[in-house]
Amino acid sequence: MCGIVGCILKDKEKHVAPILLECVKNLDYRGYDSVGIATIDGKIYVKKDKGKIPEVDEKLNLADMPGNFGIAHVRWPSTGIANKVNAHPQLDEGNGIAVVHNGSLKNYNELKGELVADGFKFKSTTDTEVIPHLIRKYINEGLDLEHAFRKTIERLDGSYAIAVISKDENNKILATRHQSPLKIGISDDAYFISSDVPAIIEYTRNIILPSEGEIIILDENGVTVHDEYDNEVKKEICVIPWTAQMASKGDHPYYMIKEILEQDKAVEFTLGERDNIQKIIDDLGNIKNICFVACGTSYHASLTGKYLIQHFAKIKTDVVLASEFKYSADTLDEETLVVFISQSGETLDSINALRIAKETSPTLAIVNTEGSAMTEEAKYTIVTQAGPEKGVAATKTYIAQLTAIYLFTALLTKNHDLIKELDKVPNYIREVLEKSEEIEVLSKRYSFAEDLFYLGRGFSYPVALEGALKLKEISLIHAEGYASGELKHGPLALINHRVPVIVILPPGTDYDDTMTNLEEVKSRKAIILSICAEGDNKAECKSKDIFTINPEVNEIIAPLVYTVPLQLLAYYVTLEKGHDPDKPENLAKVITV
Ligand code: F6R
Repeated sequence: MCGIVGCILKDKEKHVAPILLECVKNLDYRGYDSVGIATIDGKIYVKKDKGKIPEVDEKLNLADMPGNFGIAHVRWPSTGIANKVNAHPQLDEGNGIAVVHNGSLKNYNELKGELVADGFKFKSTTDTEVIPHLIRKYINEGLDLEHAFRKTIERLDGSYAIAVISKDENNKILATRHQSPLKIGISDDAYFISSDVPAIIEYTRNIILPSEGEIIILDENGVTVHDEYDNEVKKEICVIPWTAQMASKGDHPYYMIKEILEQDKAVEFTLGERDNIQKIIDDLGNIKNICFVACGTSYHASLTGKYLIQHFAKIKTDVVLASEFKYSADTLDEETLVVFISQSGETLDSINALRIAKETSPTLAIVNTEGSAMTEEAKYTIVTQAGPEKGVAATKTYIAQLTAIYLFTALLTKNHDLIKELDKVPNYIREVLEKSEEIEVLSKRYSFAEDLFYLGRGFSYPVALEGALKLKEISLIHAEGYASGELKHGPLALINHRVPVIVILPPGTDYDDTMTNLEEVKSRKAIILSICAEGDNKAECKSKDIFTINPEVNEIIAPLVYTVPLQLLAYYVTLEKGHDPDKPENLAKVITV
């Protein structure tokens, strides 16, 4: 997705561009195909181009722009290819209005047609460019900037977080949001708007969460927020518990490895949510069914949730991809708890599904971002305590989601043994992390592959899916996760001596069946890497390589621990292939379209 930032410094003599540049650098996990900044000092100054921020900065010296306020953008294209003209800010014809936008406008073709008929000339192929032209049209009709902005957003159909500056009213930034995230930040010497907190955390932890449709005006005297009827709205300032250090890479080469190494803490801190989860359970009343809804990695956490809830609570549980949810909506009722899992809390497919579900059913959002859109929409919220995650591939937030689901299940079923097991998980994870060099060595042997399979059964099936997703999204190697019993129903045809198969083989009742599947691929000459318990001689005999885990980690708790070596494998294979694990091709961290 894209990320937007705006900042106004109280001191008119100071230049805002270096701050805007730092902010977009901190936001680049939302988009890294182009970057742009606009500031005002008598006129609008714009610097923008296609490319990653360091490349564009090297070429254009982005920090060197006059003016004490401005807006900035990082782009992950949804409408219009990545090039200089399509980079934001987008401007009106006279370069008097500059706009940055995150989201996607469904009716831009219709609006563009109308504006072209009125004589407006378009330069880009973005949907966003209709916004500065519409604002200009309404200013030409006699409205001031704020009312032209209001009238413009009334015309927009789609998702948007927008910030606007104008040289004619050069003392303010206007902003609004609809189905796209936007936060307001307040520090002693500046006011900010930003798509996400990590972008501005270096400058402030005092955040206001604007609601959908509210109009935000930042000027040198402060921030005002108005509702759709133009009434001023008093907003609460909340202090975000994240720090700049938590959102930084520290001494690590990439965010992804830093975040993998933080997973023991993510579990420990999320286990601290026990009282909140207990309160939710006490309030729930009679729940006959549970339906998990999520996308991507969060979908894999949901699938683990299904195995857990059915195993321990014997409650019928479904798992539905958020983008497919509307086809199941008619089966919901007030006795079905619909659980939404999302690290960002901003994924549009999940938010759309949540809006449908809440019409009939109690809803619970499990998110990692306090104040995200899903926390506003759901009846109950559990905030996982992984801290800010900036690597595009979800790692610590996934393990934190799993922790929240395990804890929810343990409390729901009053299963004290499971709670005791959960308390041991941070140690099990630390044991894996201490052996990460073994995975680094293994990665050199597996990075040649063009196709890999990950096999698991029962609780280990979602682990296989997640291992494959991590590898394919960052290393760009094709990988498939399969329920190991299902392989013989088709994909076994693809197994040969060039295809590595990673088998998830924790101790437990499924062990023997998975071992049978391992033998099936072995007899097709697959190269087998087993993730298994220490002392598992059988797996060692039958596999080319093994990575071992504390034997006390049984198949039920395995997703919280066996996933970690798979994340490390994806990371090191990606480095081996020469790719950037933090910025995979065509992907972005938050999918708000
Ligand atoms: C993969 C990954 C994505 C997200 C998916 C949903 O590593 O991060 O598959 O899991 O885009 O995002 P959230 O969890 O923010 O709803």
